[in-house]
Amino acid sequence: MIEVKNVKKEFIQGQETTQVLKGIDLNIGEGEFVAIMGPSGSGKSTLLQLLGGLDLPSEGDIYINQTNVSTMTEKERTLFRRKYMGFIFQNYQLLPTLTVEENIAFPLHADGSLTKEKNSIILDLLDSVGLKGLGRKRANLLSGGQQQRVAIARALVNHPAVLLADEPTGNLDRHKAEEILALMLRFNRESNQTIIMVTHDIFAAGFADRIILFKDGMIDQVIARKDDDYAKYMANFMA
Ligand SMILES: Nc1ncnc2c1ncn2[C@@H]1O[C@H](COP(=O)(O)OP(=O)(O)OP(=O)(O)O)[C@@H](O)[C@H]1O
Ligand SMILES: [Mg+2]
Repeated sequence: MIEVKNVKKEFIQGQETTQVLKGIDLNIGEGEFVAIMGPSGSGKSTLLQLLGGLDLPSEGDIYINQTNVSTMTEKERTLFRRKYMGFIFQNYQLLPTLTVEENIAFPLHADGSLTKEKNSIILDLLDSVGLKGLGRKRANLLSGGQQQRVAIARALVNHPAVLLADEPTGNLDRHKAEEILALMLRFNRESNQTIIMVTHDIFAAGFADRIILFKDGMIDQVIARKDDDYAKYMANFMA
């Protein structure tokens, strides 16, 4: 479903060129839950931005459902993103003065007004992320974990085929993180949603089918749950 072919990304600032991605090759199947780990600055968020069509590779191609997102115009990419992609950012990026419901509904406004049908989608989502009854509350009055769940509901409101999450549990305690991860896993299993999650937390990564380790703009190692040495690997990591 997602094919990344020899993707390179460099940033040019004045005289200086930084090579951030140095040739990434990666295939992700439909319904797969993948975690991306690796040191700070190794290019994880940059890859996520490219996968989401928020930015373009300097070289190489990214195919999503056989469509090359790297050759689309900006307008085409925006439409594609709205249709197929959901984003969860580390800092939530909620609109603080809007209510919970208004925040969740935000991606829906792009294609017209709120219909009754859309309203019921929002109520269902509120329920499934455990925020029933809080829809009318202003987003900035919620706790961190609740805000993160609003961000998840917002990312899911369009039923995106692909969910991209950049450290979705980064600011949460273990208990809250576990709730969020369980929720993501449920959407992954029930709706066959493809999830790509960047995380620094091996506990979070343990929810994924496959862990991709980044190092200095390249894929250093890939470990899958079905691999024989997966348990040993995780034990080493935790030690
Ligand atoms: N728009 C940009 N312009 C210039 N340099 C950038 C830009 N975006 C990212 N970089 C650089 O690319 C490198 C990789 O950044 P990226 O955000 O992808 O790292 P990361 O692996 O997500 O790190 P972290 O774990 O800290 O979030 C960094 O050195 C960063 O400074
Ligand atoms: Mg990052």
